[in-house]
Amino acid sequence: MRRYSRIIGTGAALPARAVGNDELARELARRGVETSDEWIVTRTGIRQRYLAEDGLTTTLLGARAARAALADAQCEAKSIDLLVVATSTPDQIFPSTACLIQAELGTAGGAAFDVQAVCSGFIYGLTVADALLRTGRYQRALVIGAEIFSRILDWNDRATCVLFGDGAGAVVLEASEEPGILAARLHADGSQAAILCAGGRLDNGRVTGDPFLRMDGQAVFRLAVHVLGESALEVLAEAGLTPAQIDWLIPHQANVRILNATARRLGIPTERLVVTVDRHANTSAASVPLALDAARRDGRIQRGQHVLLQGVGGGFTWGSVVVRF
Ligand code: UT7
Repeated sequence: MRRYSRIIGTGAALPARAVGNDELARELARRGVETSDEWIVTRTGIRQRYLAEDGLTTTLLGARAARAALADAQCEAKSIDLLVVATSTPDQIFPSTACLIQAELGTAGGAAFDVQAVCSGFIYGLTVADALLRTGRYQRALVIGAEIFSRILDWNDRATCVLFGDGAGAVVLEASEEPGILAARLHADGSQAAILCAGGRLDNGRVTGDPFLRMDGQAVFRLAVHVLGESALEVLAEAGLTPAQIDWLIPHQANVRILNATARRLGIPTERLVVTVDRHANTSAASVPLALDAARRDGRIQRGQHVLLQGVGGGFTWGSVVVRF
């Protein structure tokens, strides 16, 4: 008997405060930073982002998304024996955000750890959880992408600070005889580390290095379009599917131009492309599970359909997962 893993529930959590482009532009103008709704919408498709209030943590956002996914799956937290969190904005150096979320959910005993693959983090986490469930050693996993990127943004750098938002998304993944995850592939190219990084670190009680996110937008854009196309074809071949058989394409939500270019390259009509970057902006590891949850809850994704999930980001990292719902 072949073993698979299946997504049986999804959930999302966003901070209370949505900040539109005009409001953000006014706030930035007070610092002498010039931008506009027109520039942000035309270059990225972003219209608003959610920004965390003081006191909100990655752990709390991740736990909220996890609870929503558990409710959707009609599971109890104590049935989870594997908890994987993708984040680049952990609340502490250690313990892992996964351990902190496990405590927040009031469970103990299962495995819990973080994966760090920046905006590809959820795809990395989902692939690792799928592999562990298929070994037969684990039965039910929570995979969470949770980020508070607003705290590592340089609000004087208009080329990056308008692009990101905060949030968390989660899925419950269960071992099953029925597929499930059909194929998954991960990649990285560490030689491209400098094009998207946050280089700060703690050093003898002080923060040293640059504590803010830095990005060479054009280099990331070019590489993202290239690897998303290649990665999609690779994983579809592994699943024995053609792009025409994909019902919903959910790439990492960084820029609507990257999303459209990927859909075009695969010959997937934009009606089958899930876009949430307009509402959430780029939420790094949270973007794919947030988009997945939105498309499930509004009834677009139906049982039996094929969904292609894709991540790309700092590292440089990328990967794709094909799921049958
Ligand atoms: O999550 C990981 C993946 N991340 C991504 O995929 C991001 C990939 N990159 C991008 O999405 C795009 O490269 C950006 C949205 C970051 C930038 O778009 P672009 O079309 O590549 O613009 P650009 O960097 O070439 O900048 C064009 C102009 C520049 O002015 P000049 O030099 O032409 O006079 C910038 O200074 O736009 C200017 N600019 C802005 N203007 C108003 C840059 N940021 C802003 C801004 N408001 N916020």
